[in-house]
Amino acid sequence: MKIGIIGSGGMAKALAGKWRSKHDVMLSGRNAERAQAAASETGAVAGTATEAAAFGDVVVLATRWEDVFSGIESAGGPDAFKGKIVIDINNPVSTESFLTTREDGRSLTQAIADHLPGAHVGKAFNMAQVAVWEDEDMHYDGRQMVTLYTADDEADTTIAALISDVGAAPLRLGGNAHAYQLEAAAAIVIQFLFAGRDPQTIFNFIQPEIKAVR
Ligand SMILES: NC(=O)c1ccc[n+]([C@@H]2O[C@H](COP(=O)([O-])OP(=O)(O)OC[C@H]3O[C@@H](n4cnc5c(N)ncnc54)[C@H](OP(=O)(O)O)[C@@H]3O)[C@@H](O)[C@H]2O)c1
Repeated sequence: MKIGIIGSGGMAKALAGKWRSKHDVMLSGRNAERAQAAASETGAVAGTATEAAAFGDVVVLATRWEDVFSGIESAGGPDAFKGKIVIDINNPVSTESFLTTREDGRSLTQAIADHLPGAHVGKAFNMAQVAVWEDEDMHYDGRQMVTLYTADDEADTTIAALISDVGAAPLRLGGNAHAYQLEAAAAIVIQFLFAGRDPQTIFNFIQPEIKAVR
């Protein structure tokens, strides 16, 4: 698969580092030198946001959540995402109140899907910290890390496969109407992380074998 990532920070590098053995990955950013350095670290290639969106069959939005829509504009705007699988990994969470910033009850994922009508959008990878995604093993207390995701359409099988490819077990929570719950749950995780809990101990309590609610 060809994966373009808008962003080349912690999450972009952690995911690219895992996907590189199976997929072609392009990282991007506003600063070409930083993007190149991140690409060299992970074995991916670097490009502009526009190049990354054009490159990927899958495009991962991995800027800070405040920059998601400017990142989409940097990539060429909604037309650049037509027909692509788009993975939203972002947590719109205040690190002061530890509440989601989405006060209207609609998730950032749904706002992205509304903004990109030609794309197949889903949410994944938001519930654990960079250190967890970098972990080669992804088993904690003898259990494989479970990764909840949401998707409405053909994004479903692709996102599930890409979760497996980082070493975690995919578990679909439901369609993107459920993404708000993932964002709110991440607010809980982030609150405990900021309080000093070990990132590898948080939120791995669901067995993937239990049938997901569809
Ligand atoms: N950190 C975590 O543990 C974690 C875990 C789960 C989910 N998340 C979510 O993942 C997202 C990314 O987090 P992160 O920790 O990886 O952030 P980060 O390290 O700050 O990286 C953000 C990246 O976005 C790039 N960027 C910003 N605006 C851009 C634009 N307009 N066009 C292209 N690239 C742009 C930045 O590069 P330039 O400055 O060079 O442009 C940088 O490489 C956040 O929304 C966060 O909520 C984070």
